[in-house]
Amino acid sequence: MKKHIIANIKMNQTPEESKFYLASIISKASALVDKRLTICLPYTSLNLGKMMLSGTDITLGAQNIAEEEEGLLTGEISGRMLKGCGVKRVIVGHSERRSRFKESGQAINKKIKIALKNGLQVILCVGESLVEKNTLKTVASLTAQIDECLKGLYENELENIIIAYEPVWAIGSGKTASVKDIEYGVKAIRKAVENNFSEKAGKEIEVVYGGSLNGKNIASIYNAEGLNGVLVGGACLDAQAFLRMISKC
Ligand code: 13P
Repeated sequence: MKKHIIANIKMNQTPEESKFYLASIISKASALVDKRLTICLPYTSLNLGKMMLSGTDITLGAQNIAEEEEGLLTGEISGRMLKGCGVKRVIVGHSERRSRFKESGQAINKKIKIALKNGLQVILCVGESLVEKNTLKTVASLTAQIDECLKGLYENELENIIIAYEPVWAIGSGKTASVKDIEYGVKAIRKAVENNFSEKAGKEIEVVYGGSLNGKNIASIYNAEGLNGVLVGGACLDAQAFLRMISKC
């Protein structure tokens, strides 16, 4: 199976800027043949993404989804709306949303179920805080997040879920986790999935890493054991630099 490269544009790019960005990436599509690239655009660029990415092998992603189907939720975007904008995958439970918007594990669990119900694949983010890492609670933290977020799902739904291991202390900090740290976290994630579902599920679930990836560290991390790819934040924003980075994988 080809590995994932997932770009999280976060709160960047006007539609016009996304247009130039996507055009640069699409023009170099030949560099991507052995990878699965997903670009998670801001909501306001999704429709444009739908038009520009149709007919390419690049998957359109979004960065969040409402936890309810429709109704009195001013400012929220539903699964059906995302689907209507051509979205195939959606990031759920990013640590920026957990901390800044107080998203609970229970809310994330609801979002995952709504996304799956609407035929969207989920990129579920989990990761330990610096305090948890320093007090040797990484495994406990990752296990608790997996238990809470995947509660009540059927094993066959896991084929539509990618878990992104994003240590909170590594996001946007310039502090990348070592390959050893990543392999340790990924193992804990797979074990938690195994405990909730089956040995097969723990083995087969796709896990990617995110957190301060750059052109220097990507190659070694991309090849870390048990990893199915990477989720890139800041370093994906400059299309040319991102393409150079991908070429090292
Ligand atoms: P950075 O690569 O900027 O650390 O962001 C990672 C991230 O949050 C991807 O979702």
